[in-house]
Amino acid sequence: MEQFNRDGFLVLPKWSSAAEMQQLQAAARQIMESFDASKHRSVFYSGPDRQKHMDEYFLTSGDKVRCFLEPGAFTPEGELRGEKTAVINKLGHAMHELDPTFRAFSYSDAFRNLVASLDYSKPAIVQSMYITKSPRIGAPVDLHQDSTFLFTVPQSVTGFWWAVEDASLENGCLWAVPGSHKLGNKSRYIRTEDGKTKFDPPQQVLSDEGAVPVECERGTLVMLHGDLVHFSKDNKSDKSRHAFTLHTVETGRNVVYPATNWLQREDRSPFPTLFER
Ligand code: FE2
Repeated sequence: MEQFNRDGFLVLPKWSSAAEMQQLQAAARQIMESFDASKHRSVFYSGPDRQKHMDEYFLTSGDKVRCFLEPGAFTPEGELRGEKTAVINKLGHAMHELDPTFRAFSYSDAFRNLVASLDYSKPAIVQSMYITKSPRIGAPVDLHQDSTFLFTVPQSVTGFWWAVEDASLENGCLWAVPGSHKLGNKSRYIRTEDGKTKFDPPQQVLSDEGAVPVECERGTLVMLHGDLVHFSKDNKSDKSRHAFTLHTVETGRNVVYPATNWLQREDRSPFPTLFER
């Protein structure tokens, strides 16, 4: 915890077994296989002017399991550049609720115990993502804080990032700026009344000074403070870089989950808690 509080992130090698990671990979593959790429062509784009690329399919995915494509998924003629499973960028955002394999993994005793070591009284998982960073076209994820895209008042977001496959400099591993969480949140990505989204205040360029690569072997878990500045580069290699992420927030202690968060449950029901104490 000392290290986590100092650096804003913590690397836990071998937290999960290779077999567990293979199970997640198989479950993700099944979801991708059943994805109808002729109907949904929603691209996940993390670069500048992200809000201009945002669509309804993404904004209503908070309590569903959907697939988003790589920005480089299409040929100039508008055809998919390869098999759909090779051009998907990520899956989101409620596998932890709706898919039996991801659900069992996300609500495991091991994970509950880990979250119990943090300062939470009624933590809830609000989001899951399975990020593929496809070979050759895997897009970079710009410098950001997770608390920009998911926020509570006061801030209580923690990210959990599993290397489902080895993540190296070659296939676009995470990069983190140690200690950057201490600067606090710089901007929030909010829903506006016209059903669109914007950065509030307008997004500033965050500094990557002092950033370190976080290369990990399969099964490693990286814990990320919500305010930590991090990013990943593109994947030009022939290897995919699969990762699974969960984000938790505090739902007790009068912590508020604002309605301006892009991620909402359609029925507005409360997020199920991992435990209460
Ligand atoms: Fe992130």
